[in-house]
Amino acid sequence: MEVNLKNKMVADFRSYVSPDKVDFFQKYGLDFVSGKREGCYLWDIDGHKKLFNAHCNGGVFNLGHRSSDIISVLKQALDRWDIGNHHLLSAQRAELAKRLADSFPGDIQYTVFGVGGGEAMDLAIKLARGYTGRSKIVSAKGGYHGHTGLALAAGDEKYRKSFGPQPPGFVQIPFGDLRSLEEMLDEDTAAVIYETIPATQGIVIPPDGFFSDVRQLCDKKGVQLIIDEVQTGLGRTGKLWGFEHFSGGSNGDMVPDIVVIGKGLSGGIYPITATCFRPHLQKVFNDDPFIHISTFGGAELGCAVALKVLELSSQAEFLQHVNDLAKLFRERMDNLVERHNHFIIAFRQLGLMMGIKMKNDMCGPLLMKTAYDKDLLLVYAGNDTSVCQFLPPLVMTFEQVDEVMEKLEAAVKKATILLPALQVKEGVSSAWDKVKKLLSGEEKHGG
Ligand SMILES: Cc1ncc(COP(=O)(O)O)c(C=O)c1O
Repeated sequence: MEVNLKNKMVADFRSYVSPDKVDFFQKYGLDFVSGKREGCYLWDIDGHKKLFNAHCNGGVFNLGHRSSDIISVLKQALDRWDIGNHHLLSAQRAELAKRLADSFPGDIQYTVFGVGGGEAMDLAIKLARGYTGRSKIVSAKGGYHGHTGLALAAGDEKYRKSFGPQPPGFVQIPFGDLRSLEEMLDEDTAAVIYETIPATQGIVIPPDGFFSDVRQLCDKKGVQLIIDEVQTGLGRTGKLWGFEHFSGGSNGDMVPDIVVIGKGLSGGIYPITATCFRPHLQKVFNDDPFIHISTFGGAELGCAVALKVLELSSQAEFLQHVNDLAKLFRERMDNLVERHNHFIIAFRQLGLMMGIKMKNDMCGPLLMKTAYDKDLLLVYAGNDTSVCQFLPPLVMTFEQVDEVMEKLEAAVKKATILLPALQVKEGVSSAWDKVKKLLSGEEKHGG
């Protein structure tokens, strides 16, 4: 009965949503359909498989699946409110915006709400251009800011090259390279955009002092600094905002002009995103406060949810828990790397923003598959497939660290056995094909 239900659902997905996605997932034995979900776990709709979610959609499920705190706030809000009217003033948007302003260092004050991270990034770019009257936008090669218009233009070429003429004015430079940035900034540069820790590029930790130097350069050249905290925000790194790690020292606070927040702000329950900015940028709206609007952006039900998320994620005990978990993972991962250093090259970490850097480009898909087979959901980084992103829920317990590490070690062992049979430089889809063949025993492998 349950199996039939799953088959029917997969057939409908194939017929009405995406035949290509169904083909892909079936081909590689990853045709998981989310049914029950709770805390750190996801169950397949047929009830046969239970995964520990160590990806969390890049932070959407920071508070785990179906957090009871968030659900109860939403239920109360449903008794009184709805989406609200985006043309009118709103008590809920005002309260959430004030709490966000209070949560930031420096003078980041105003917030415009959106529905998705791409939309919020589009507005950040519009603000920078509107304020400076300049057009050039500099961002990191291999970075990712969403699939909407301007956000897409600021991201990696592979996501946009098939879709016709690109908006002008966007250039990319290597992340962490201050000299390239200095050379790129000119009198037409409106903004520099960085993720605090580029996730799609493989959880790259910025070099010491990098962001303070970027801030100084931007100040010198009148360029707006946009920081994408879509994945790193709301406690993921052990501080409420990831960029707070890079403040202090002789350069003082590293306060961005614009901060973009998404994913976790939703509590995994109600989509809401935010573009938060310093007072000078408000000027963009002086002549026409309706120059940018979003019908569902800052829906009042979503504001109730986000307010709770912010309250929970700001608590000192919550952040302490993240840091304690991070320390435990560091110890356990260092040990794992030491014993499997022919497969894992490095463990990248800031708080629970973690990445497993492996031997070559085949390893990401391979480890994702072997981890899935051991009931652990990991996803490799799209722009560096030698890295698996490792983002467990921030509310997991210390006991669950043992569980995750056991699954991960078993997956690494299996992947290590399979790796020699994979050819390097074959491209990701052929890596997947090889992985599939190896796992199904169609091909012989050593070890
Ligand atoms: C760093 C970063 N910025 C922006 C986005 C875009 O967010 P959304 O998918 O909500 O448009 C993402 C999504 O994965 C992201 O990881």
